[in-house]
Amino acid sequence: MKGIFITIEGGDGSGKSTQIDLLMSYFSEHGFNVLLTREPGGTPISEKIREVILDSSHMEMANMTEVLLYAAARAQHVAEFIKPNIEQGKVVICDRFVDSSVVYQGYARGVGIDAVEKINSYATLGLLPDLTILLDLPPDLGLSRKKNQQALDRLELASDAFHLKVNEGYRLLAKRHQSRILTVDATNSIETIHQIILEAIKPLLSL
Ligand code: ADP
Ligand code: TYD
Repeated sequence: MKGIFITIEGGDGSGKSTQIDLLMSYFSEHGFNVLLTREPGGTPISEKIREVILDSSHMEMANMTEVLLYAAARAQHVAEFIKPNIEQGKVVICDRFVDSSVVYQGYARGVGIDAVEKINSYATLGLLPDLTILLDLPPDLGLSRKKNQQALDRLELASDAFHLKVNEGYRLLAKRHQSRILTVDATNSIETIHQIILEAIKPLLSL
């Protein structure tokens, strides 16, 4: 049996963690063995790279350095965790994946969508998600939700214009990969969004 790879995407504060928690509770209540992971991170080496990327004192980091660090963290994550588990027939859910790099670095930071896709196709050995859930939320709403929650990291401290570009970039990408990316209106209630996500995932898991 071939495993299944599902990714969750969206701007900061769009509700990814909230929905992932609900999804994992659903799976454990129904006896499904589903693995959850996140990017940047997911393996000890990738988590160390994450610390370098998100360090709020690294304001001078060059855009290409950032692209390559994300890609390096991802290469390790795919090789050590995602690919072996999918090959063993498991279901892997990942909080952010290549689409985040394409949108944040490729589109919003201006490195170029095609360049970032190409770099990442090397990093992932061509692995693509079976399904990507995109939580679409106006960025001012996401950031105000987030501000109530915690201190903001280096990327969350970026300007409003940057977050608007992130939102725009995700919408562009959803049009480009319509058969893979499901856009969900994240202004809905937490429960409504959960139900929409479940309905999209159930057929993949033969539920
Ligand atoms: P992300 O992981 O995408 O950054 P979170 O899941 O941490 O987002 O959500 C950010 C904040 O918004 C949290 O305080 C969470 O409780 C709240 N939140 C999440 N989803 C919704 C929703 N649909 N409506 C209102 N608030 C929400
Ligand atoms: P994350 O910890 O998922 O933050 P949040 O819970 O707020 O969504 O991600 C940290 C930041 O890293 C987030 O601002 C998005 C950014 N990011 C990129 O810019 N490129 C990438 O390839 C990835 C995976 C994340």
